Amino acid sequence: PSHHPGVTLLSEPTLRTLRGRLLCPEQNNARFELVPDALIELDAHGLIQSVRAAPSDCRIPETHPGAVLLPGFIDTHIHFPQTRMLGSASGPLLQWLERSVFPEEARFAERAYAEQVAREFCDALIAQGTTCAAIFSSSHFDATDALFAELDRRGLRGLTGLTLMDRSAPAMLLQEPAAALEACSVLIDRWHGRDKNRLRFCVTPRFGLSCTPELLRGAARLAERHGLWIQTHLAENREELHATAAAFPASTDYLGVYEDHGLVGNHSLFAHCVWLSEGEWDRMARHDAVVAHCPDSNFFLNSGCMPLRQAIHRGIRVGLATDMGAGRTFSMRRVAASAYDAALILQAPVSPEALLWRATTGGAIALGLGAQVGRIAPGYEADLVALNVPAHVGPEGLFDALLFQHDAGPVRATYVRGQRLTPTHRSED
Ligand code: GUN
Ligand code: ZN
Repeated sequence: PSHHPGVTLLSEPTLRTLRGRLLCPEQNNARFELVPDALIELDAHGLIQSVRAAPSDCRIPETHPGAVLLPGFIDTHIHFPQTRMLGSASGPLLQWLERSVFPEEARFAERAYAEQVAREFCDALIAQGTTCAAIFSSSHFDATDALFAELDRRGLRGLTGLTLMDRSAPAMLLQEPAAALEACSVLIDRWHGRDKNRLRFCVTPRFGLSCTPELLRGAARLAERHGLWIQTHLAENREELHATAAAFPASTDYLGVYEDHGLVGNHSLFAHCVWLSEGEWDRMARHDAVVAHCPDSNFFLNSGCMPLRQAIHRGIRVGLATDMGAGRTFSMRRVAASAYDAALILQAPVSPEALLWRATTGGAIALGLGAQVGRIAPGYEADLVALNVPAHVGPEGLFDALLFQHDAGPVRATYVRGQRLTPTHRSED
């Protein structure tokens, strides 16, 4: 039996050896080494002990025949309370927030509702092979506590925090700075660093427009005091840019709003970054700040295309992200396919292999987890995904098939620390 109640294990709790075709990411190049037949040995804690080619007389059966194993997907930006309104086509960003997002997020004031959706949310991550995510919760303490508890039950890796908002939304979603920061402190004590550091509290001001200067400064102090990551939205759409400039007349530009309140550094994660100026990109690089690239969301809300190749060339860490609810999928493969399209539109193509690397290893590095997850090497946590590959696909077509042939079947298996997870709480309605 599992020590995560409610999770069905399909194999021994401490699974010793996996055998199969492997995509082993390289650390510094956005590339994979293909190992046609490998053995991965795990220790009792779910850490990878060794990786080697299977000997010719190997008697261990292939774990997932026909599939390929790679590191679990890392979603660097996703919204838990938008699970049930995924795909709501109600306009560009600011209208979509008012019409679709805020009414749904208000339902998370009720703990039982949040608990139910937390189960659906974790099921959906597992079903798509995502083993780690940077997550926006709602603005409620209880909903965020319920999300942490569900991540913990499943053994998923997550950074999250309650979404900080004290203006420009329905009252149900707003909290005074002092109360919001106190709620954060309780959650930090309860969850930050839990499960051998797999759960982390992340300071999460929604964006400039939802926060007073006082709340932004309080958020920065909280992050500083506890050494926490900060996540927010930056330069997603032009209307938002103009509204932000009007709300913060003293700041030189959008990134400047966050700089002026102490929120920018090498533990700051900015979603979107579609409309940054050259000067802002320079400062992003200088701060060693991180980008969560959300191409599917950017298409759905007609926000624009983030210049991925430019950001990479500047040495900026960039992870891929669903941004689900504005993104229409939990699938990081689909997001990688959208990133491919967005790069084509900008006439700065990026290869499927590089995008798959960014959806896994690159995401781990972006979140400061490059020594724990995102690789298949000794000492790394065995957070892995097995993906179906059609039998006729040869090595030269492998990355194309993984990115673009979604019809070839669902994710075959998802592992966290060597334990296979299955979605167990299907929604009844
Ligand atoms: N900007 C502020 N809040 C949100 C959100 O929930 N989704 C997206 N895509 N952008 C935002
Ligand atoms: Zn978002």
